[in-house]
Amino acid sequence: MTNQTKIWNVSTTINEETIQEAAALLRDQQVVAFPTETVYGLAADATHEAAVQRIFEAKGRPADNPLIVHVGNRDQVEQLVTEIPEVAHRLMDEFWPGPLTLILPSNHTAAQNVTAGLDTVAVRMPSHPVALQILQAAGLPLAAPSANRSGRPSPTEAEHVKQDLDGRISGIVDGGPTGVGVESTVLDCTSEIPVILRPGGVTKEDLERILPEVMVDPALVDQKEQPKSPGMKYTHYAPESPLWLIEGDDDFFQQQLLHIKEENRRTAVIASNELAGKLDHDVITACGSRENLPEIAGQLYRALRQYKKADIDVILCESFEEKGVGAAIMNRLQKAATQKITQH
Ligand code: TXA
Ligand code: MG
Repeated sequence: MTNQTKIWNVSTTINEETIQEAAALLRDQQVVAFPTETVYGLAADATHEAAVQRIFEAKGRPADNPLIVHVGNRDQVEQLVTEIPEVAHRLMDEFWPGPLTLILPSNHTAAQNVTAGLDTVAVRMPSHPVALQILQAAGLPLAAPSANRSGRPSPTEAEHVKQDLDGRISGIVDGGPTGVGVESTVLDCTSEIPVILRPGGVTKEDLERILPEVMVDPALVDQKEQPKSPGMKYTHYAPESPLWLIEGDDDFFQQQLLHIKEENRRTAVIASNELAGKLDHDVITACGSRENLPEIAGQLYRALRQYKKADIDVILCESFEEKGVGAAIMNRLQKAATQKITQH
């Protein structure tokens, strides 16, 4: 499975030659990573089981975790599903191309390992120009999970993809850092009232402007519930060092940091600019203002990847308000955390 991974750089201008080369590899059943507006994806022909199998192998992904099929136009959706409910049409009109994935009834055109044998298929049209141009040039629906080794934080830069998958995939199209920084929202449209299975770039508040009612998968709030989205049950987004999620005010955070430093543990901090400004500590990643959650989302995975086991014993991370994209940020941090310390 080791081969040369070709890297193209289109971060300043997108050249047609690169797009055609990547598309040709994909038509040839190879796997190629490219940027979407959320995170980098690792793509393969969604209608071809052996091609899709290469994604699972490169990532080390459990076979029961289905993939999102990316499309370059709406006709491709029609080719994948038995029907498109009225509500899905409205959502596509409003949010596509963009970070919203819709779960629809599958007609089994997508390879069976894409849907992990389910009767539904996840579809989304990304808005990143590189992703859209490759999809259009390939003329295929492309299965594409995040381009990380399974369990690691998703890649928001080509360098992250390289760290995880160099030598395991055919190519990486480097389009610079992605924008949104957390993955798409996964919305189940097969039930009467649509259900958020994974919070993401399109927020619940955004959806509520369009839909009379939106539900949230109970497994997202209660860890005893079985999630409906198979991927949500796995360890995810884990940095190399243990991550402690601190739930409390800034004073509480400062106290926790002091305790740990007294134990002589090498500690890193991931925090908002506001909290970072108050701490007397030298290893801090400030991810943006807590008043600007999209900015925090954009920086989060880079921050999680940044600290290496050899240098850092524990990462302390601030908790953020669960409004807007804050719901996605906190969902990822809860999964990444090895421990939570809550102020009472
Ligand atoms: O932003 C994104 O969505 C990125 C970029 C590359 O597009 N992709 C991504 O894919 O995050 P992945 O494979 O890392 O996450 C897909 C999620 C998983 O939680 C999976 O369980 C869920 O979507 N999913 C896929 N098909 C499903 C289905 N038929 N029913 C329920 N959940 C499904
Ligand atoms: Mg993923």
